Amino acid sequence: MNCPSVTQPAVLILLGPPGAGKGTQSRALERRFGLVQLSTGDMLRAAVKAGTPAGQAAQAVMEAGGLVSDAIVLQVLSERMADPDTGRGVILDGFPRTAAQAAALDGLLAARGQSVGAVISLEVDDDTMVARVSGRYTCATCGEGYHDTLKRPAMAGVCDVCGGTEFLRRKDDNADTARQRLDTYHAQTAPLIGHYQRAGVLQRLDAMQDIAAVSRDLEGMVRPVLRSRTP
Ligand code: AP5
Ligand code: MG
Repeated sequence: MNCPSVTQPAVLILLGPPGAGKGTQSRALERRFGLVQLSTGDMLRAAVKAGTPAGQAAQAVMEAGGLVSDAIVLQVLSERMADPDTGRGVILDGFPRTAAQAAALDGLLAARGQSVGAVISLEVDDDTMVARVSGRYTCATCGEGYHDTLKRPAMAGVCDVCGGTEFLRRKDDNADTARQRLDTYHAQTAPLIGHYQRAGVLQRLDAMQDIAAVSRDLEGMVRPVLRSRTP
């Protein structure tokens, strides 16, 4: 008797410093492959806006460019990962960021018979990162990201994706906090590159290229992972 084949949801991780393009590229992958972007930064900003206990605990840390506690981040992420729309696969954007988060993710996935499919390290130099973050803004309606000089909407003041006309700038997108976020990245998150390299799932991508070139390279890395999960 043939057993029915089971499609495992793909679990992709985009690793990289602030401004590397994790959000920009996650959203492109969502549209291209029907995956779901899970950004812990977006989830925490939503919690801050809603004034939940997690948001109240996270706000000051985020504005200072530090890391929110592992316990809070794991709580918001694991709740979201249980939602049914994650069935085809997820792109983890900004998670994990510490060794403890990486270990917790492995445990969470193992309990579901899943594992990390690919970790793609988006690599940019420090000065580029500060320039990208300093000029960034997003559509208040759909969240599409833009930049004062690097990525403008086709029609000034109108979102390319949803036609929205309201835009937001993040409180932590100033040069001082950006430098602090970068230090935090080098100290606590960059060591995960070695961790995933040893696990045999790491791929490095030159994220200094323009957005379209990064998207093209990224799709080339993601496609085989999705193919290997299709019965
Ligand atoms: P989070 O929201 O994750 O911010 P981040 O990691 O600092 O990354 P960014 O969102 O700033 O950059 P990005 O890589 O998404 O770049 P983007 O695509 O927007 O986290 C915020 C805070 O929340 C943290 O500091 C921490 O306090 C807390 N937090 C979140 N997750 C946590 C966790 N797991 N544990 C603990 N704390 C956590 O691009 C940037 C700009 O550049 C855009 O304007 C874009 O248009 C432009 N751009 C992108 N790519 C290119 C390109 N190739 N060429 C030219 N321009 C480009
Ligand atoms: Mg982002």
